[in-house]
Amino acid sequence: MTVHFEQGRLIVFDGGEGSGKGTVLRALQQEFPEPGAIFTREPGGTPLAEAIRGVLLSDLCKDASAESMLALFFAARADHVQKKIRPALRSGVNVITDRYDSSSAAYQLRAMKGFHLRHLFTQMRSVYCEGAIPYLYVYLDIDPEEGLRRVANRADSNHLDDREIEFHREVRCGYREYIAQHSHKVIDASQPIDVVVAECLGVMHAALD
Ligand code: TYD
Repeated sequence: MTVHFEQGRLIVFDGGEGSGKGTVLRALQQEFPEPGAIFTREPGGTPLAEAIRGVLLSDLCKDASAESMLALFFAARADHVQKKIRPALRSGVNVITDRYDSSSAAYQLRAMKGFHLRHLFTQMRSVYCEGAIPYLYVYLDIDPEEGLRRVANRADSNHLDDREIEFHREVRCGYREYIAQHSHKVIDASQPIDVVVAECLGVMHAALD
């Protein structure tokens, strides 16, 4: 007799600067409490991945190449998947992550011009993310000029946030291009934040109920 265990679902939230992603995720966390769901983030989510995050977002990586950055993001991701995401999914818990592989596609492959790394990306994704393939990508879409205007006075930006507008335009194209190949929803994040939150709640209930 084969026994089938119910797997949890992995849902990824992405969004550019000023898209309201933080507010949305806080609202979702209230609506989908533990132990049915866990919320996590990338880069990060485990002690090793958080340490790698510290390096990635520090000025040590300011001039790092797409090659170095892609390797570091996937090193963090491998630990995150092994120690946190895959065990949760296997025990039937839904996982909602603030960024995942889609961010490597948008930032390192597209905006940082690592086009030649796409086969490596595909291989790393299939090996490192095995058993942790997203059920759905949700992208909070906003014109980068509008998004950057919203966060203009932010004190905690990093060297990726601080790049020029063209970089952020490329990130946006990269996300849209990548998630189009997978199950996804694009939310218009230029709407009032309560509308954005309500739409995201609707998407999550449709995915998880
Ligand atoms: P963070 O402060 O967490 O961004 P935000 O609050 O906007 O979500 O910083 C994470 C940064 O790392 C963000 O600029 C996106 C970038 N990133 C990549 O370049 N590649 C990746 O694979 C991931 C997961 C993030």
